Amino acid sequence: MTVVAPKVEKEEEQVVNPWEVSAGKGGIDYDKLVDQFGCQRLDAATIDRVARLTGRPPHRFLRRGLFFAHRDFNEILDLYEKGEKFYLYTGRGPSSEALHLGHLVPFMFTKYLQDAFKVPLVIQLTDDEKFLWKNLTVNESKRLARENAKDIIACGFDVEKTFIFSDFNFVGGAFYENMVKVARCVTYNKVVGIFGFSQEDHIGKISFPPVQAVPSFPSSFPHLFSGMEQLRCLIPCAIDQDPYFRMTRDVAPRIGCQKPSLTESRFSPALQGESTKMSASDPNSAIYVTDSEEKIKMKVNKYAFSGGQDSAELQRELGANLEVDVPIKYLNFFLEDDHDLEQIKKGYGDGSLLTGKVKNLLGDVLYEVVKRHTRARAQVTEEMVDAFMAARPLPNMFG
Ligand code: TYM
Ligand code: TRP
Repeated sequence: MTVVAPKVEKEEEQVVNPWEVSAGKGGIDYDKLVDQFGCQRLDAATIDRVARLTGRPPHRFLRRGLFFAHRDFNEILDLYEKGEKFYLYTGRGPSSEALHLGHLVPFMFTKYLQDAFKVPLVIQLTDDEKFLWKNLTVNESKRLARENAKDIIACGFDVEKTFIFSDFNFVGGAFYENMVKVARCVTYNKVVGIFGFSQEDHIGKISFPPVQAVPSFPSSFPHLFSGMEQLRCLIPCAIDQDPYFRMTRDVAPRIGCQKPSLTESRFSPALQGESTKMSASDPNSAIYVTDSEEKIKMKVNKYAFSGGQDSAELQRELGANLEVDVPIKYLNFFLEDDHDLEQIKKGYGDGSLLTGKVKNLLGDVLYEVVKRHTRARAQVTEEMVDAFMAARPLPNMFG
């Protein structure tokens, strides 16, 4: 008698950390991530609350569940309701000349939060991180940080409420004091557990996490927040950055600081599909803010994974599978009008709209986003970059 071992379909493990985002064919299981990371789901009641407290309709990223998870966001809202303010912190690792549309997501959302809550914002450019991880010189990393600052400024931040800094230029003083306080609280085993470093990784990587942690503490910015050491911090980012802030939240009470709160987004997927994110390391996976109209339309037509049927006939008969369709996912991120979006989803799902048409619509929507961004960026002068990056008090930051 022969015994045939049962064939076990091994589920492909999903990996989500600051350096890698990959999942099996079904795409990233965000529900599972929430449980695995121990964050909270951003529910409809919280979104309603944001609308009520700010007196504005919630951003489409909230309405559509694209910012889907959080940590203690409710505590920030509780305090805000009582008349207390907070500050925002986000960042960017300047690894490439041009940002892609996925990178714009947290910045667009941060801009909305700054306007809606009228609060100050610090933006960290981790040029040191990219020196450590990528094959870049110090000067090249610094140059990219400044170039990326222009794209960030083009998102419309208010210079009276926003401080942008590069680590190479700013780390020192009170910021550095907080870094070593954090470092003393994190063992080697702990950092390996959180980030998965190996024995072969150089110590630059292993010692980097405190740099990204401490902008969560107001005392790192004496020129902004002196006398406000307990001011709360809210960090908008995509969920890949969660490990840094798990570590930060773990350490905070031990050094007398408040834990930062977070709102966390899904990734805008790679053009090829939801099993990975739009990434700067693969030019065909992403639409860059520097892509021409032709290039955007070519990339959408050629690479965007379609849930439509193989022939027009079948499509009319069966309709598209919207669950896996990348054009629909991008429209979800970038098409503002809810009604238009619903119409497209309905027509595409029931087969009356064909893939080519939906891709054309998407090409127009993305080109519009890129065109607006390009125009705004062209207005950003070197003097404006200097103004945003000067370590200065912001007297009207809560106004
Ligand atoms: P970086 O430069 O890899 O990414 C910058 C921000 O963009 C988010 N992001 C995306 N969001 C949606 N869809 C995508 N496809 C996508 N790709 C990237 C990232 O989550 C991040 O919010 N170490 C950080 C820099 C940093 C930072 C921070 C980020 C320093 N301090 C505080 C957030 C908050 C980095 O290299 O990000
Ligand atoms: N994964 C990033 C990229 O593809 C690179 C990276 C290195 C990174 N270190 C990081 C991203 C820390 C976020 C946080 O460009």
